[in-house]
Amino acid sequence: METAELQREIAAERKAVDTNLRRLLNGEKGTPARLKSAMRHSLLGGGKRLRPLLALWTWDALQKNKKNSGFNRHDVMDAACALEMLHTYSLIHDDLPAMDDDDLRRGRPTCHVAFGEGTAILAGDGLQTLAFCVLARAGGASAGPLVDLVGRAVGPAGMVGGQQNDLDGEGAPVTAASVRLIHRDKTARLLAASLTCGALLAGSGPASLARIEQAGLDLGLAFQGADDILDVTATSAQLGKSVGKDVAADKATWVRVEGLSAARKRMLRLGRRGLRNLEASLPLGEPGNRLCALAGMMWDRDR
Ligand code: IPE
Ligand code: IPE
Ligand code: MG
Ligand code: MG
Ligand code: MG
Repeated sequence: METAELQREIAAERKAVDTNLRRLLNGEKGTPARLKSAMRHSLLGGGKRLRPLLALWTWDALQKNKKNSGFNRHDVMDAACALEMLHTYSLIHDDLPAMDDDDLRRGRPTCHVAFGEGTAILAGDGLQTLAFCVLARAGGASAGPLVDLVGRAVGPAGMVGGQQNDLDGEGAPVTAASVRLIHRDKTARLLAASLTCGALLAGSGPASLARIEQAGLDLGLAFQGADDILDVTATSAQLGKSVGKDVAADKATWVRVEGLSAARKRMLRLGRRGLRNLEASLPLGEPGNRLCALAGMMWDRDR
């Protein structure tokens, strides 16, 4: 697919995701105005929308051969938006003074800077609980497996656990292998779940889900590898978030463990392996190619 065409499709899909996120948030009648403003501030304030795009385009790539999966694209869009809510909640909490203490996110003040810490904590809580309601409604007959799949990815043995290990890794002696575990849990699990969520709704069976998850974990590791590299090499204007924070907090990263050049090589290795295995899990055709092009941008990126 031509780069310009891919960029157009990404922009159009991001717009559709934003529209649906706004609709889902506005549907929560009875939410206190200040809390809703804080949720809106973080959720609708930019972001690459990578997780929802991965879910939607995985479904597109796999559903054509499985006419009876029982879902339409609106259901998948809702589930995809739930993933973005979970991601955004994790960013709000990640930025809190008690965690990474950041004041800039997606080119604007972080939630706690704009609304205060109490409201920011609650905005994260609100997005997380809303996400699971949306998943339960979107999942229809597959709601149980869907909520379980996503819940495990973001739960205490997934993203939340990874965030704990990330905090404990600050200033602690770490190895490339222990960084891998932190990065897998705090970041790669949700990214892999974005792929498997689309695949589950497309009717993929356990063996196919396991293959896609494995590919997603490698891609997710490459994604966090790129995030850590950009923290050292990019500007704040470019990223819309502060830079140089990992060195300042002595975070556990491959850049710290083995230097920039080896960390880059590792990222490329992981990304290429993930992409190869993703390609091998998809039927031939345009939707699969488009998904793989998107997956390739997970590490080959400047923001
Ligand atoms: C940032 O995620 C946090 C990490 C897991 C590295 P993204 O780089 O996807 O952030 P947004 O959604 O585009 O703001
Ligand atoms: C964030 O990792 C991971 C999660 C939010 C789960 P980082 O702390 O590296 O993300 P940034 O750099 O603040 O976006
Ligand atoms: Mg962090
Ligand atoms: Mg952070
Ligand atoms: Mg980072």
